[in-house]
Amino acid sequence: MCGIFGCALKEGKAAPLIHSSLKRLEYRGYDSVGIATISDGKIFVKKDSGKIDEVDKIVNLDDMPGSIGIGHTRWATHGAPLKVNSHPHADCTGEIVVVHNGIIENFMELKNELQNLDHTFVSKTDTEVIPHLIEQVLKENPNLTLVDAVIATLKRLEGSYALAIISTKEPDKIICARNESPLVLGINRKGVFCASDIPAFLPVTNKAVMINNGELVILTAQDYEIRKIQDSSLVTREPITIEWTAEMAVKQGYPHFMIKEIHEQPETLRNTLRMQEHYLELMSTFLDRANEVFLVACGTSYHACLAASYMFSKLAFLPTYPVYASEFIEQHGKSVSIDSTILAVSQSGETADTIAAVTCAQQRAATILSLTNVIGSSLTRISRVYIGTQAGPEIGVAATKTFTSQLSVMAQLALRLAKKRGKVSQDEIDSLEANLEKLPEIADTIVKTQEEKVKKIAKKYKDSKVFFFLGRGISTATAFEGRLKLMEIAYIPSIAFPAGESKHGPISLVEDGFPVVFVCPKDDCHKTLVGNIMEMKARGAQIIAIIEEGDMDIKSLADEFIEVPKGIPGVLSPIPYVLPLQLLAYYVALEKGFNPDMPRNLAKCVTVK
Ligand code: G6P
Repeated sequence: MCGIFGCALKEGKAAPLIHSSLKRLEYRGYDSVGIATISDGKIFVKKDSGKIDEVDKIVNLDDMPGSIGIGHTRWATHGAPLKVNSHPHADCTGEIVVVHNGIIENFMELKNELQNLDHTFVSKTDTEVIPHLIEQVLKENPNLTLVDAVIATLKRLEGSYALAIISTKEPDKIICARNESPLVLGINRKGVFCASDIPAFLPVTNKAVMINNGELVILTAQDYEIRKIQDSSLVTREPITIEWTAEMAVKQGYPHFMIKEIHEQPETLRNTLRMQEHYLELMSTFLDRANEVFLVACGTSYHACLAASYMFSKLAFLPTYPVYASEFIEQHGKSVSIDSTILAVSQSGETADTIAAVTCAQQRAATILSLTNVIGSSLTRISRVYIGTQAGPEIGVAATKTFTSQLSVMAQLALRLAKKRGKVSQDEIDSLEANLEKLPEIADTIVKTQEEKVKKIAKKYKDSKVFFFLGRGISTATAFEGRLKLMEIAYIPSIAFPAGESKHGPISLVEDGFPVVFVCPKDDCHKTLVGNIMEMKARGAQIIAIIEEGDMDIKSLADEFIEVPKGIPGVLSPIPYVLPLQLLAYYVALEKGFNPDMPRNLAKCVTVK
């Protein structure tokens, strides 16, 4: 994720304001921090890895000259959280410096091109290509203004960015630009600010100007000028007044982090689908060679593993064994060997049971692969290969956006393996890839069109004493996750089973009015699932079905239904189908008067066994 901030002040030092504003952006990432300022035609940079307070203690971030500057708080994606990878990044001369939030997808080819032109790179980041490209454009066209050189550079970038750039060439301004990653301006009588979001500057001003995708801003202490990147045309936009309190601002106007994070899923999925080919290729090569693969995790991450085991089997014909990390040592510890491969999945990368399982497997010479949301976490340090899930920091205790990010990475891995193994036709692979690309938009549609309906269902069923969650095939994992969400934040005892298994015991609980949530994508299990719904209905259950839009077979049986856009292949269905279940848990918790962000007895990161 990362947070950026820039300010151009009429007088006084910029660094203390950048420092305090970055503190308010720390929720976006906190593995490294850096500030660059301009004074007397010179650029000053202080940066290092570590939390802002830790770095400040060593380098004194406030003590930097100049009334113009930019800053960055990092959440590592490309390159480990080391000083050298911390922002700002500079060109060869050190005269152009850049902070960036986002991912430059074509950075490898740009880097090769620039290296061939003798540019020297010092970091492993994607960002570093930006100052070098600007430098190169200016070298080739010395008469260009800085703004024109930046525009020429932006036109070569693929991916997402919110950027702030300063240069000694035009030391009175900051140039910032946006594509997908958020960017907003703040204005008061002392100067003009740019930031990843409003909380960064809210204590100093509530006058904000939202910047749209494809726009660039030239910011001076006196004014701001917005232009379209495409054709440099001017855009006129007046500031608006923000009425949020400071607490609301951190949650971007949402009442809780959980609902904010549910709503962020279109964006986090988009970021995760931009996964570097190189990492997918490397990890899928290890999986392809593996004799046995254990998918090891806890909680929500375990449910992602459960769903992934269906993906690997159906697409890559690779059998994998999902195992609760807390059971791994007892269940498989003795049999794990050099021939075993562990794919450990953990949002935090610090969960004690997951680390213990992985450490045990590592001692027995197994290959350790991992998927985590926190680069630099313990898990990344003990893995042969790891992939970051690009979901940004997740603060709500109940995992939401990291679950869908984990799933989309594993779907990409399964597809990559499918290609390697040649078991699935190219047409099917192409169609699945196209469907994966559509998921961010589908997630957006679900949240926009179904949220009100879910609220009503939550109100109606809030006093139920118990809930069932059922699904067949891969939807079993979705049902398990829906049940965990409801149980952990709304404290309603809930039971989840594969729908077929529900006849072997759980059905004895069903009586009149008993709510049963069915997860019903249109996949190979659909027909059989209809039968399972009938069985429950015959015993008086109230059916709440998550269905494909227009699914008349199930609509005619269900008491309530929530619709997901058509055409999603079953193997990808947990990603969109879990969204209504996350919303359901959230709104039931609210109806019951509980704070979904702070469920009792639970912790975001469990570091004890
Ligand atoms: C805790 C959290 C869950 C999470 C689980 C695993 O129980 O409350 O939301 O799913 O830990 O965490 P991990 O960081 O390993 O994914």
